[in-house]
Amino acid sequence: MKYAFPDNFWWGSASSAPQTEGETLAFGKSATIWDRWFAEQPTRFHHGVGPQHTSTFYQHWKQDIALLKELNHNTFRTSISWARLIPQGRGEVNQEAVKFYNQVFDELHAQGITPFINLFHFDMPMVMQERGGWESRDVVTAYAEYAQTCFELFGDRVKHWFTFNEPVVPVEGGYLYDFHYPNVVDFRRAATVAYHTMLAHSLAVKAYHERHDGGEIGIILNLTPSYPRSQNPADVKAANIADLLFNRSFLDPALRGEYPKELVALLREYDQLPACQPEDKALLASGVVDLLGINYYQPRRIKCRDSQVNPDSPFMPEWFFEAYDMPGRKMNPYRGWEIYEQGIYDILTNLRENYNNPRCYISENGMGVENERRFDENGQIQDEYRIDFVSDHLKWLHKGISEGSNCLGYHMWTFIDNWSWCNAYKNRYGFVSLDLATQKRTIKKSGEWFRETAAKNGFDD
Ligand code: BG6
Repeated sequence: MKYAFPDNFWWGSASSAPQTEGETLAFGKSATIWDRWFAEQPTRFHHGVGPQHTSTFYQHWKQDIALLKELNHNTFRTSISWARLIPQGRGEVNQEAVKFYNQVFDELHAQGITPFINLFHFDMPMVMQERGGWESRDVVTAYAEYAQTCFELFGDRVKHWFTFNEPVVPVEGGYLYDFHYPNVVDFRRAATVAYHTMLAHSLAVKAYHERHDGGEIGIILNLTPSYPRSQNPADVKAANIADLLFNRSFLDPALRGEYPKELVALLREYDQLPACQPEDKALLASGVVDLLGINYYQPRRIKCRDSQVNPDSPFMPEWFFEAYDMPGRKMNPYRGWEIYEQGIYDILTNLRENYNNPRCYISENGMGVENERRFDENGQIQDEYRIDFVSDHLKWLHKGISEGSNCLGYHMWTFIDNWSWCNAYKNRYGFVSLDLATQKRTIKKSGEWFRETAAKNGFDD
């Protein structure tokens, strides 16, 4: 076979509790920031569709796990909802939630699918947000308690844990660019949120390692390779700063246990460093992960600023660079994001050369399609474009592995079309299409392709 993958390669897909479970305010679950924001501002959500409109995994878990099996998944990622498990954020555990997650993990194992479980996918419980969210050190401690509760309850069956999915996104969305609650635009507060998230991460990693229960713990980062417009030093510097702010601010603490010196110097120069405690350094050092999840969708194309920044304007990342619309770049015609398959290889090469080749896997990669409606006469979506997208990325991944990268698997985003924050169902990504009105699930052509690819552990051209 032309593209054969290593034995025991992880073939699967990723999803999350808030995007699939449904029953948002039922069975003991309390509100998250998404429930609150939707209640306050439904017009911010595509077609006014809020977090309660999901594929209701809470009710369909058995059917969905059977579908995962049918698609030859040997692994599957989802998350635990903090607001469901511990509705007050701290303290009493909701036994309905324990029963639900026990059933899910047991059924996954019964079907030969290893659960990969993430603890936080953008879904801050509202009670915790009201106590300051990630700006508060108390919330950091509360998160660590929640993580330990999960390890105690489910650690016998879950051996692959993740502390956060894409921690930069709530920072960008909630505190810089206004696409997540609480809709703040303030760099210093954003930096505090980012810093506290990594402290929370480190506390959870430390606690997990102290258990010595034979499992592993990681973090899932959306890495966006930052390519300069040219090799001109000003463009290169601009791309490096974007890399520092959006990638290395999480990647370095997760893999090296400390922040890049250049990042600290930059934030100090502009008086944007978050407040630190003397014990933080040692804590961050204990946050080094066993496994890195890499979400890769698209790169960043960067150029230096053409115009001077107004020094009276509030400090923002864009003081240092501008996005560059590279002529001729390949775009996803259905979702407006660039498609650059080689990015996945570049990420692996960087990790191999500069970060000691960590254990890693592709935890998300996928193609969103607006208004996906190419049905055949049997009602199946003929998504050849998605097969091309996945196989083209897998080819570059294969090359990275053949050159020595320690990449152990590939998870598609996502298993079934799901609710996606403010975009709701605007962009569909699944191997399985969802009819929201009837809850009917239909495997797309790409799902069939994946079923075969996973069974053969690779593919030919
Ligand atoms: C990923 C997130 O970055 O992008 C998912 O982890 C999200 O939660 C996915 O659903 C797709 O985003 P969008 O905006 O295209 O719906």
